[in-house]
Amino acid sequence: MSVRMPLMAGNWKMHFTVAEAVALAEELKTGISRFDDREVVVAPPFTAIAAVASALAGSPIRLSAQNCYWENQGAFTGEVSPPMLRDLGCHYGIVGHSERRQFFGETNESVNRRARALLANNLAVILCIGETLEEREAGKTLDVLAEQLKGGLEGLGEEHADQLVLAYEPVWAIGTGHTATPEQAQEAHAFLRGNLAERFNNTVANSIRILYGGSVKPENVDELMAQPDIDGALVGGASLKGASFIRIVDFEE
Ligand code: PGA
Repeated sequence: MSVRMPLMAGNWKMHFTVAEAVALAEELKTGISRFDDREVVVAPPFTAIAAVASALAGSPIRLSAQNCYWENQGAFTGEVSPPMLRDLGCHYGIVGHSERRQFFGETNESVNRRARALLANNLAVILCIGETLEEREAGKTLDVLAEQLKGGLEGLGEEHADQLVLAYEPVWAIGTGHTATPEQAQEAHAFLRGNLAERFNNTVANSIRILYGGSVKPENVDELMAQPDIDGALVGGASLKGASFIRIVDFEE
């Protein structure tokens, strides 16, 4: 049996007013019953985090931010800091999502600064990495993953491992309906775990959860979760509807 508790995370991206977010949170709070053997996380937009935190009070569903800045406070118009996220009750912060890399100029270095800032403030990190279609077709997938992992984890040590989650999200699978096959995902996850073992050691590598993300839905979650190195899912589109995310959380082993 795996020592890794499965983690199912919903990334709501730039969706929902406060009222809509609260309605979904309430649906999840009453609809999800499996918490003893899996962890459930939602990442609302910043504007809805406080209200969702109130709606989820008393529930084991945890909160994540979708991004953060690396300074704690100061003249950084428009940014949100890790202490502010802690204050709202966040447990996790997502960093390095491919949409941030593609549309907002994130680099491995800026992703790493965000990850370190979260950890320094006692927030756990969900570090996203993944290759583009062009990179996959050029046979560069594993090189790209190794480089993103190296850059993203720069300066982090074994002591951070229990606060660290990786998300393998092939860019060509995000929001496209083209999920990686379970074999493609498993290959990448096994590679990443090997890489973590080289960086830390086997015990640490075996304790770090690696999520798959990219068009996860009720129809494919079971076969993805059946892979030995897939420890959870980071779900975009299919997390926006209560019934769909509840079925994903309720994946069958
Ligand atoms: P998707 O998004 O499930 O809509 O493909 C996944 C993600 O971006 O985390």
